[in-house]
Amino acid sequence: MSRLGSRVVLGVLLLAAALATGVVGFLAVRVLSGGPAAVREGGSFGEASIGGSFNLVDGDGVPRTEADYRGKLTLIYFGYSYCPDVCPTELQKMGAAMDLLGKDGEQVVPIFITVDPERDTPAEIKTYVANFHPRMVGLTGSPEQIKAAARAWRVYYKKVDDPAATQYTMDHSSIVYLMDRQNRFLTHFSARNTPEDMAAAIRKFL
Ligand code: NI
Repeated sequence: MSRLGSRVVLGVLLLAAALATGVVGFLAVRVLSGGPAAVREGGSFGEASIGGSFNLVDGDGVPRTEADYRGKLTLIYFGYSYCPDVCPTELQKMGAAMDLLGKDGEQVVPIFITVDPERDTPAEIKTYVANFHPRMVGLTGSPEQIKAAARAWRVYYKKVDDPAATQYTMDHSSIVYLMDRQNRFLTHFSARNTPEDMAAAIRKFL
C-alpha cells in the first residue's frame, strides 16, 4: 500500500472510531438518563413497566399482594430498617406528606418494602414503620419474594459487607413511587422533593 493509501485508510479508521465513540456515548447518555427523572419527564421510557404484582408479608405476618391495596393510591418506598440516614429521611417525608393531606391522606397507603429480609422480620418492620406514620405498612418476605418485588419496581439493592463494621449495610436506590388505585405508576419523588411536593402531586390524583 502506498503511503498516501495507508493515510487514507488510517483517516477512515479514525473517523469510524470517532463515530463509534459518539454512538457509544450517545447510548450511554440514553441509558444514564433512562432513570427515574426520564420516567417523569419523558413518560415514554418504560413508565408502564414500573411496578407490578408482589407477594409479601406485612408486619403481622399476613400475606399481602398488590390486590390488598386496590382502590387506594399507594406511596411505595424500598429500603431497610438498619439504614443509617437515607431511608429514615425519605420515610419521614412520606409520613409528613400524609399529615399534610389530612383526611384526604386516607385515600393513600404509604408502604415500606424492605430490601433486607434477613434482618427485617415482620415484627422488626412493624415497629420500624410505626416511627414514621400510624398508617404506614411495612412489607417483607423471603429473599426471592423481595427480589421479585424490587425487580418489578426496578429497584437496585445489594448487600455490602464491610469487615471493619459490626453490621452490614445495603446499597439501594432511593425513590418514592406513587401508584394509582390499580397499582399503575403515576409519578415518583427523589431526595430533592419535599413533603409539600409529594402532597401537591398526590392531590392531583385524588
Ligand atoms: Ni436506606
